[in-house]
Amino acid sequence: MKVAVLGFGTVGYGVYEMLKNADGLEPGSVLVRPGKDDAEFKVTSISEITEDPDIWAVAEVMGGTNPAYEFVSAALRAGKHVVTSNKALVAAYGPELEKIADEKGVAFLFSAACGGAVPFLHNIALAVESDKILSLGGILNGTTNYMLDAMQSRFMTYADALADAQALGYAEADPTADVSGMDALRKIMLACAVAYNMLPDSGLCCEGIESITAEDVNHIQAGGYTCRLVTSGGLSESGQLYAYIEPVLFPANAPECSVLKNFNMAKYIGENSGQIVFMGQGAGRWPTASAVVRDLNDILHGKRFMMRPDCERVAADNSLCEHKYYVRLPEELADALPAEKTDVYDGIARVITKEIPVQAMHDFAKESRKDGSSVFFAAIGE
Ligand code: HSE
Repeated sequence: MKVAVLGFGTVGYGVYEMLKNADGLEPGSVLVRPGKDDAEFKVTSISEITEDPDIWAVAEVMGGTNPAYEFVSAALRAGKHVVTSNKALVAAYGPELEKIADEKGVAFLFSAACGGAVPFLHNIALAVESDKILSLGGILNGTTNYMLDAMQSRFMTYADALADAQALGYAEADPTADVSGMDALRKIMLACAVAYNMLPDSGLCCEGIESITAEDVNHIQAGGYTCRLVTSGGLSESGQLYAYIEPVLFPANAPECSVLKNFNMAKYIGENSGQIVFMGQGAGRWPTASAVVRDLNDILHGKRFMMRPDCERVAADNSLCEHKYYVRLPEELADALPAEKTDVYDGIARVITKEIPVQAMHDFAKESRKDGSSVFFAAIGE
């Protein structure tokens, strides 16, 4: 079966090469930007793919929402199966695209959009057929994990660690999405859509690693903790969906401390299965390409959707989840926090808070930063 590839960057090249050796699959044309069509298999117009009857499926790995949305919807409308690694696209337009796929009787799969090689969405989609997912999440961004690991174990600066992650092909074209937490937040949005048939697209709390300093990492390490950027989603007792991302500090015996480099650790808790954990490379050419090809194989075996066509958009409610937090902030702001312990040195306070709602912590940091104050916070994990 011939597969067209949209985009020929880090992942596109990997998908193309893997398709050459994949059983039952072969590479078709590759859509590239005008001017890059220097070989005969490369095309610059989506119609050359949608109108080609030999193309069975399309792998979209170009990233971004435009023109990816236009191209993917055109491919589905033309009756081509589509797989994508593009979380921005699925977070913004997943339900619409799933509806088109459903109407046309073709597949729309996106497990490569969450966790790189880690078969997270793939297994959530299987699990929901027989179990109820109580919560899900984990470390879902390879770039920031690489950076936090490099800052802690190799004493790298934030800037050098980011430059390294970019050079290794882990970061998005604009790494702001990685370090701000947005990339992994989109992944938890997709995971919730697959697990709960609800896509949380507002009310989300998003804190990345942009505020962490080498000094914070030293303090955290001296206290016996390791910082990781962690996503959380699930249903609260009242049935409300929560979804957020924030740095979390883990004690030395926690499994998250052994997640190094660009690795991800994704988890879900099923009502009957209990906790299931997946670990593997969450970013990079070959890990991500392997997930794209896995989805194509799933289509060959009859799988048609991950998100259901009637998936609803909902607002997340993060006011019911509570954690203790480690907060570094200017001394004069510290009194506003319900503290269990406060250390002050040279005008900087480091506070361990009592249990406070996730929403309240994120709101406090946002408000405090309005006058330019530097605030870092991380939940205290178990
Ligand atoms: N920039 C992403 C990451 C790529 O670092 O996880 C894989 O989604």
